[in-house]
Amino acid sequence: MFKNRCRQIHHGVFLEIHFCTSNKGKFSEAEKILNKYGVNIIHAPLTLEERRSESVEEIAEGCALRAYSILRKPLFVEDSGLFVPALNGFPGAYSAWVLGKIGNEGILRLLSGAKGRSAEFRCAIAFTEGKEVRLFTGSVRGRVSESIRGNGGFGYDPVFIPEGGEKTFAEAPSLKDSLSHRAGALQKFGEYLSTKVK
Ligand code: IMP
Repeated sequence: MFKNRCRQIHHGVFLEIHFCTSNKGKFSEAEKILNKYGVNIIHAPLTLEERRSESVEEIAEGCALRAYSILRKPLFVEDSGLFVPALNGFPGAYSAWVLGKIGNEGILRLLSGAKGRSAEFRCAIAFTEGKEVRLFTGSVRGRVSESIRGNGGFGYDPVFIPEGGEKTFAEAPSLKDSLSHRAGALQKFGEYLSTKVK
């Protein structure tokens, strides 16, 4: 079934896959990138219960299978987080929950006086048609800024400065589109979908 759908790309017709996420920011980032590969994504705003794990890969895999049991259509989910070595990887896979509890202000407070401000965003995309789950990962290194800056993006974007830069992701959304953890994983995913038809 999937092969037939993919073949449609050759005839200029878009392949359609559901993206299960309750985060509109993630959806619009994914839409921009996957459209370039001829993939049309449909927003499935499911709130999926996440298994407890420190690994974004494990969480994404579990969510993909749970989402499939509801939708029964080709779909992908994404799990991501900000990992700060000076905080032993915190907030990591608990990033969404931590942001809701202490916000970016709280992260800056935790890092005041810390040894180093390096940080890494990690992303795992899990794609399934029901049987197996394929994972595509991406990451971007950088540091946590000293203050909250910028209006673009979402989540930790106002406090994350990618390696080699001076602006936060929230100050430079177009930079984020090209080098973010999610962009990296989505590009691999888009390439996979394209090569499946060759
Ligand atoms: P989840 O993947 O929905 O469990 O949540 C990951 C959380 O990490 C999000 O709610 C954001 O707070 C944060 N996050 C993930 N990706 C990004 C990003 O690209 N920019 C800023 N924050 C992000």
